[in-house]
Order: sequence, then structure tokens, then C-alpha cells
Amino acid sequence: MTPAFCVVGSINMDLVTQVDRFPRPGETRTGTKFGTYPGGKGANQAVALARLGGNTRMAGKIGDDVFGADYMATFRDEGIDTSIVETVGGTSTGVAVIEVDSGGENHIIIVPGANGRVDSSYIDANVEQIVEAGYILFQLETPFETVAYAMRQASSRGCRTILDPAPAPPHGLSRDMLSQVDYLTPNESEAEALTGIAVADLDSAAAAGNELRTRTAAGIVIKAGGHGAYIIDDDGARHVSGYSVDIADTTAAGDAFNAGLAFALGHGRSLDDAVGFANAVGAMSCTGFGAQSAMPTYSAAEGLINE
Ligand code: RIB
Repeated sequence: MTPAFCVVGSINMDLVTQVDRFPRPGETRTGTKFGTYPGGKGANQAVALARLGGNTRMAGKIGDDVFGADYMATFRDEGIDTSIVETVGGTSTGVAVIEVDSGGENHIIIVPGANGRVDSSYIDANVEQIVEAGYILFQLETPFETVAYAMRQASSRGCRTILDPAPAPPHGLSRDMLSQVDYLTPNESEAEALTGIAVADLDSAAAAGNELRTRTAAGIVIKAGGHGAYIIDDDGARHVSGYSVDIADTTAAGDAFNAGLAFALGHGRSLDDAVGFANAVGAMSCTGFGAQSAMPTYSAAEGLINE
């Protein structure tokens, strides 16, 4: 079946520890829970899209280890097309070491493993399958040059591109990349890293968004966690309210948001409406422990909106 969405990105196994508060440098604390959960910004977006009912293809690489094998089972269980997910011999699957505190906030360290082997030759070998989808989702846990290259392929073939600039790139986004993107979705700290403007309210979000728009024609959507999101595009700057939920773990809320955004845009909704839906998907994803456990179905997300 032709996919509506393709996610080009990272596949990580998350090693997650829950702790009452984050340790200070040099301090040892006793955690309250440990688990191994499927994660990775790319794969989280793919799983969230599939849960919503989106026909989704994953593009990326795993290692030839137990984490990679487990992940393929996860993708299959979620109904994600893995026809172009490649296994790299002699390499580990990407991992993320995550601490979650009692408020659901997290610290994350990633070790890319096979994600670091997603290169332009992989994109060339699979480009026809990637651009079959109308919407292509990118993040920055695979090599920057590969993301730029893949975005160029996708954009030149008429696909809509959504770039989550996460983790924040240390040297900013290239002009080339910015010219290929239709929707750019930093969170507040990524927006600050990209512009030097701290985002705390609509005025500062507008300033950061407009600064980005001097470099790109993309619609800017700044994710603000529980406060919702800010849109900055040709129609000006506006705030779209978020949803209040009982938070267990905020890991992957931004990934869930991007999936919700792509899903709604892909179903013909306006950007404002799509951001409202994405806020609900992101909020619901925070109600379970681990990146993907609480990614909602379409009806669950609509249920929160209509509550
Ligand atoms: O966005 C959350 C994700 O970031 C986690 O699942 C972890 O794998 C890191 O990539």
C-alpha cells in the first residue's frame, strides 16, 4: 500500500530510569524504576502516526543486535512499513540513556550507533520508496548532511517536508536545509538555540519565528509543551492552547506533536487546526511511562479535544 507518511530518522532503544530528582554532578541517587523501551525521535514519530491510523513507512537503520531485532517486532506490531529499514552488520542499534524525574521532565544522552550510518547512498538506494509518501518527517538524530540531502530529494519531488530541529544543531540550520522545509517545528529551547531569542510568550515566539522567517519561507511552529504551540507564518503570529493531562513522562511529547501535525495536515486540515490536534496528541503521549506507551489513537486524541 502506498504510504501517506514516511519518517526518515532515528531508531533508538531507550534505557529509562525514574528518579525523584536529577542527581547533581558527582552525586549518586537511587532510582525508583528502570525499563527498556522503544524510542528514537524518528521511530517515535512513526509509531505515533501509525497509532493515529496513518499509513506509515519508516526509513532508517538498526544494528544487528537484540535491540534491533526487538525493534523490528515493535514496528511490525504497530503496522509500520519496514521495507526500507536496513540492518547494519557489526554495529549497535542507537540507544538513549534517559532519566525521568517525579515531574515527568527528562535528561537524555544518545549514542547514535546505526543511526550514524544513515548516509546519502542509503537515501539514493531508497529514494523512490521515500518520496512515495506525501508527507516526509525529519529530525536531527541522523547525520545532518544526510537529512539535508534527503530533504532536497523529497522537496524537489513535490513532497511536503516537516523538520523537527532536534536535538538543536550546534551550528544552526544550513540555508540549503531551510530552503527545503515546509514546516519547521522547534521547541522553545531549540528556537532559542536557532535564533538567540528566548521564547516565553507570544511576543518572544513571534520575534524568534520572524527571525527564522528571514531565512526560510517555512511555516514556523514553536512547541511550548503544556502551554501549547505558537504559529508564525504569512498570516502572522498566534498561540494555540495546549491541554492539561496527568503527566507521567514527557519523553517524546514533541515527537507525538509532529506526528499529530503531519497526520492532520495530511488529512487536509488547516495549519491552525492541525496544531490544535497536534497539541492533543503531544499531551496524551505524556500520560504513560516510556516514549511510545501512551501515543494515542485518533479517537483518543479527538476525545481529549472534545472533553
Ligand atoms: O524525543 C524523545 C527521544 O529522544 C527518545 O525516545 C530518545 O530515544 C531520544 O532520541
